[in-house]
Amino acid sequence: MLSKTIEKALNNQLKIEAYSSHVYLAMASWAENQGFPGIANFLYSHSDEERMHMLKLVRYINERGGSAVIPELEKPSVSFDGITQLFESLLEHEKNVTVSINEVVHECLEEKDYSTHNFMQWYVAEQLEEEALAHDIIDKLKLIGGNAGGLYMFDRDVATFHQNIGNGE
Ligand code: FEO
Repeated sequence: MLSKTIEKALNNQLKIEAYSSHVYLAMASWAENQGFPGIANFLYSHSDEERMHMLKLVRYINERGGSAVIPELEKPSVSFDGITQLFESLLEHEKNVTVSINEVVHECLEEKDYSTHNFMQWYVAEQLEEEALAHDIIDKLKLIGGNAGGLYMFDRDVATFHQNIGNGE
């Protein structure tokens, strides 16, 4: 049985994962309308992955005798100054997610909830991968600069970067 404190912390994390899915969906739609189909696909997949991160929490909370709360979500940003700014904002978002996951892990230790602590390790590992991937992408975009040909190639190749994160899990 989950303690009330852990149930609340997990529900908060559930909301953050749901919001992440929402944020990446808005980014995907923007990229699609800017003529970047590869980046759009990458972000649509990323949005799906975040939904799965949310779902994992819904199932875990309910399985452990808590009640998962399906949250209301704010409207995410729907426009960006460019592809690099979009990925910088994605990285900032992921850094905040990492802070929040670390907070849940900390609360698990305080509450001596070692099962949830164990469950959360998957998220800890996932965050490392997601932040590393975002850094990688931003580095590539900085090399490309505003070069149209470079961006075209990036859009074509970005699908292959996605295989590096979480294998769709
Ligand atoms: Fe599920 Fe990208 O954090």
